[in-house]
Amino acid sequence: MNSLSKSKSFRLRTEIIPCISVARVLEGLGLKESDLVITDQRSKAVLPHGALDKCKVLMRDGYGSGLTTDAMLDRMAQDAGAGYERVVGIGGGAVMDCAKILSLETVSPSRDLFLEPDTMRRDRALALVPATPGSGSEVSPYATMCISGSPEQRLLESPALASDEAWLCPDFLSGLPMQHLAAASCESFVHACESYVSPRGTFVSRALCEKAVKAILGIWRDSVRHGLGTVTKYLSELQQAGTLAGIAYALTGAATVHAVAYPLTVRLGVPHGEACYLAFSEVFRRYDQKSHPRALEELKGLLSRILRCREDEAFDAIDRLAGLVVPRRRLRDLGMTEERVIEFTDTVITRCQLLTSNSFVELSPGDIAGIFRALL
Ligand SMILES: [Fe+2]
Repeated sequence: MNSLSKSKSFRLRTEIIPCISVARVLEGLGLKESDLVITDQRSKAVLPHGALDKCKVLMRDGYGSGLTTDAMLDRMAQDAGAGYERVVGIGGGAVMDCAKILSLETVSPSRDLFLEPDTMRRDRALALVPATPGSGSEVSPYATMCISGSPEQRLLESPALASDEAWLCPDFLSGLPMQHLAAASCESFVHACESYVSPRGTFVSRALCEKAVKAILGIWRDSVRHGLGTVTKYLSELQQAGTLAGIAYALTGAATVHAVAYPLTVRLGVPHGEACYLAFSEVFRRYDQKSHPRALEELKGLLSRILRCREDEAFDAIDRLAGLVVPRRRLRDLGMTEERVIEFTDTVITRCQLLTSNSFVELSPGDIAGIFRALL
């Protein structure tokens, strides 16, 4: 099989293990002395007392807050030593990213991983237990980090970063504030929609996206009807939707929504999920003005059937519904000004070319600038 036809194939490297309780996860993992556990205070609090006593434990939040840097990873690698055979990441996206990198054969200096990403090898087992829905990191071959002293966030991609096992247990989401769950569902929704229209998508990935979109819109509608607190009733569904969207997104990669979201995160400090949510409809409206591939028409059809609106109103209807679940913030309220539109556009064009070129139609710098102006 040549590489072109293989690029359209579907393969999942991670075994996905749904569990009904924390006790079942711990029983299945069978933690031992040769394990290195990366976690954070909130996720550790979900575990029974003493659950991690046998293994070496690194607390991600003990190394600083905010985006993970190479300096943090180097200190974690030093503290971890070399005597571990498996890495278990229990936590949100940042914890899982650290676990992925610490499972590699050569970890430190971690900034050197960008020099030859093709040579990345993993020589330890890797199990991930997500404690937030939305990122899909438990099933993706991606990890992000910042290089110290630089405001840029960089993405590592390698099959070596895909986990062996993803343990899904909704108990790890309990206690998350309703707003956090709602924002995470927005990220899952964006992953599903970006992947659905990707030229690298397959009938398998689109089926996963469709399932995720239906689940998330159903939860949003129910929450609007019965009160936003209802989101917390759907921990399992939110987690599964995030993982389904994550599988599809891992296959196809992200595109222009993520590219436009990038400067919102690194320049304005908007959390990644919210940044994707803010960018989503404007990017899709521009797509819709430029080109009409079958996948985009099918997605509009799917959204309009669920939201009971005309296809040409699908993105407006999404904005109205999502806006009731997660209030939309204007960029000017976050520190953005008209004068910075060119700077933000330039960041997208120069730093996110891989993302913009992964779209079914590449938006022009004028389109990108127009998106930022519309979001001001
Ligand atoms: Fe994302």
